[in-house]
Amino acid sequence: MYYIGIDLGTSAVKLLLLGDEGICGVTSKVYEVRYGEEGRAEQDPKDWYEKTVEGIKELTENIDKTKVAAIGFGGQMHGLVALDEKDNVIMPAILWNDTRSFKESDYLNNVVGKKRLTELTGNISFPGFTASKIMWLKNNEPEKFNRISKIMLPKDYMVYRFTGKHCTDVSDASGMLLFDVEKRKWSEEMLKITGVNEDWLPKVYESYECVGYINEETEKILGLKNVKVAAGAGDNAAAAIGTGTVNDGDCNISLGTSGTIFAVTSKYKADYENAIHNFCNATGEYHYMACMLCGASCNKWWLEDIIGTDDYDKEYEDCDGISDVFFLPYLMGERSPLNDTKIRGMFYGMSMSTTRKDMSAAVLEGVAFALRQNLDIIKSMGVKINKSKICGGGTKNRYWLNIIANVLNIELEVPENQEGASYGGALLALRCCDEEKYNKEISKLKIKEVIKPQIEKVNKYNEKYCKFLKFYPLIKQIY
Ligand code: XUL
Repeated sequence: MYYIGIDLGTSAVKLLLLGDEGICGVTSKVYEVRYGEEGRAEQDPKDWYEKTVEGIKELTENIDKTKVAAIGFGGQMHGLVALDEKDNVIMPAILWNDTRSFKESDYLNNVVGKKRLTELTGNISFPGFTASKIMWLKNNEPEKFNRISKIMLPKDYMVYRFTGKHCTDVSDASGMLLFDVEKRKWSEEMLKITGVNEDWLPKVYESYECVGYINEETEKILGLKNVKVAAGAGDNAAAAIGTGTVNDGDCNISLGTSGTIFAVTSKYKADYENAIHNFCNATGEYHYMACMLCGASCNKWWLEDIIGTDDYDKEYEDCDGISDVFFLPYLMGERSPLNDTKIRGMFYGMSMSTTRKDMSAAVLEGVAFALRQNLDIIKSMGVKINKSKICGGGTKNRYWLNIIANVLNIELEVPENQEGASYGGALLALRCCDEEKYNKEISKLKIKEVIKPQIEKVNKYNEKYCKFLKFYPLIKQIY
């Protein structure tokens, strides 16, 4: 049988075909993000559907289509998709990295209060999260707000288009700030606070549950029949499944556009210091997640936009030492652990002898230091972490992996299969059909390489990290 995993990403949809012998096809289709004034980042949900359909057709072109058993989505989290009473999209989706709702988010944190929000949802507000986006719409575009009949997250809009069902899963619902993460249900009080009508909300499933079958319209377009659709998961929770980060204490670092640290925990415990996210996991438990808005995108910005090279290997060849320069990776403000939309990036410590390579190395170190700050918070919540999987585009850079292992002082395991969320989506599709086969597939996941910390560098990086921590409180005053 075949299972299709779909990662509805920010810059592209990535699709994967899982067969009885493992992964037998991958493809991706890009679409546009429209960035605009006041931190806007929008996408047209129609593009998601068209590109996904294109990708599925390509993946299934040469296989026996009657053997496709199920589809599972992973997807960019937190985005607001609003539908009117005829289920038409009211406006472009407001994405996870859109910060226009910072005032509404500040209201939630300061007037409702972080303590109360954490009691109700396990989390505080970030402009990236869905709740403040809805409030922004109410305050700024009431005509659109008044037409809302349903709200959903990006991958749930796709599930709706494929099945006709309005539903979501617990991991993605957790990132809306409308959801009581501990009890795995919508928070009535949060609905009142944000002005959300309960009827607008999708039905909640565990990520691996089947929500229905693809509808006739999509069956015709794709040439598929009797295909189950799993509820799916937020992209980080899906990627965790795809890398085998499934047991209590397992950790996964993802170096994509954003940089995330994801740790599974079997017990619910809210972070009242408010630095990291506390979400339901796609395995049925919970997870902590720290999300840095710029991960590998810092390096992409520095290399491609600033120094004008796309030869990443050459830039870092022969790099081995520790740079004298500091870099603060806050190019789009920061979510975890700072929750500061106004802060910006910085280089510090250059002298006449600083070279281009020192600057390039500093960028990688800066992201690693910010990861460490987040990891330390997750550890302070009682999760014991002495190794982590690592996935995403940034893992192609061996020098960066060494830096991260040394800065975090943990072993890094690079999974053989780097497909992450699309593979996780396929595994959730498999689980909704056959749990035993799913468990077998997870146990087969292999590690390609283990990167160990080097003690002498660990100590030196530790000294530099202690200095790194001093920068934010200082530059915060400037912004
Ligand atoms: C997680 C988050 C991002 C998006 C991007 O909280 O905002 O990782 O899901 O894909």
